[in-house]
Amino acid sequence: MNLFNGKTVTVILLSVLLLGVLYCYMYQSYRVVPLEQEVVRPDSSLKYTQPSIVQGRTDVVTVTPWLAPVVWEGTFNPVLLDSIYKSKNISIAATVFAVGKYTMFLKDFLETAEQHFFVGFRVHIYVFTDRPNEVPQVKLAAGRQLTVRSVPSSKRWQEISARRMELIQTLIEEKLRNHADYIFCLDVDSKFHGRWGTESLGGMVAVVHPGYYRDSRSRFPYERRPKSRAYVAHGEGDFYYCGGAFGGVLHEVHLLAKTCRSNFEADAKEGIEAAWQEESHLNRYMWINKPSKVLSPEYLWQDFKSRNPEIHIIRFSGVVKNYAEIRPNA
Ligand SMILES: *[C@@H]1O[C@H](CO)[C@@H](O)[C@H](O)[C@H]1NC(C)=O
Repeated sequence: MNLFNGKTVTVILLSVLLLGVLYCYMYQSYRVVPLEQEVVRPDSSLKYTQPSIVQGRTDVVTVTPWLAPVVWEGTFNPVLLDSIYKSKNISIAATVFAVGKYTMFLKDFLETAEQHFFVGFRVHIYVFTDRPNEVPQVKLAAGRQLTVRSVPSSKRWQEISARRMELIQTLIEEKLRNHADYIFCLDVDSKFHGRWGTESLGGMVAVVHPGYYRDSRSRFPYERRPKSRAYVAHGEGDFYYCGGAFGGVLHEVHLLAKTCRSNFEADAKEGIEAAWQEESHLNRYMWINKPSKVLSPEYLWQDFKSRNPEIHIIRFSGVVKNYAEIRPNA
């Protein structure tokens, strides 16, 4: 019997073709589903209050005119949010800068972060300092890490502040790509007092400054000289955002840091320093590129400010400090 007669060959060829088509089809259907769109269901045993679109907080605005959520206590369910992000196995990086005497704030910052900052998630904190031996030993929970990166000392705090964007940019390029999903850049002279978790995650995340959120934008301390690349004209601007806390997905924060850094350096070449250094450049950037999530001043309060009625919880707050004592120049 000849196994390779015309009929058999046709059948084999057709089968191979069919298998090939099937394989391509299946491969494609796996391929076309981007990671982000994988169906993620909260734990089906999860019990939580029925959501409503007609009842909720009425004393604050919870969405911007470009439809970014504004996160206030009472607008989200932390348990539900955590269960959604848990199944995505996300990793969050955070940066803090502790140059000179600012290392004195590290202990409280790191200890309170253990209690409140993305508890139960994978967190990697990067401490930038010129005094690595002053970084305190803090016991970290499983899944949490701390890395110390050395930076040169500086004689002017403005310069320290200015270099932050550059350091964030290089950290993302050198270390974080493929190792973290989100990054937050936080001021070290602050403490956590309440939950800061998955409700804060977004593409580009900015915090509204506690000092100006009730003011007219004409009073915001934007950079007002048109020759600066941080310029925001009168009659422009949305909110005044903090330089002391911002974040988002890696590529968004990378672009922000890179842009602010190059604008800062181009200004410096022309002898201009924006009114509030990187904060001014950040505000200009956020005006042009709107944040996709806005965090209320709960996310960066100031200890010396009395609490306003719309502030139901203070999550993170700047400690009262004596500038003359800690800054290399006043
Ligand atoms: C989560 O991601 C980390 C790092 O990629 C990995 O080591 C770990 O096994 C993952 N955990 C789960 C439950 O997938």
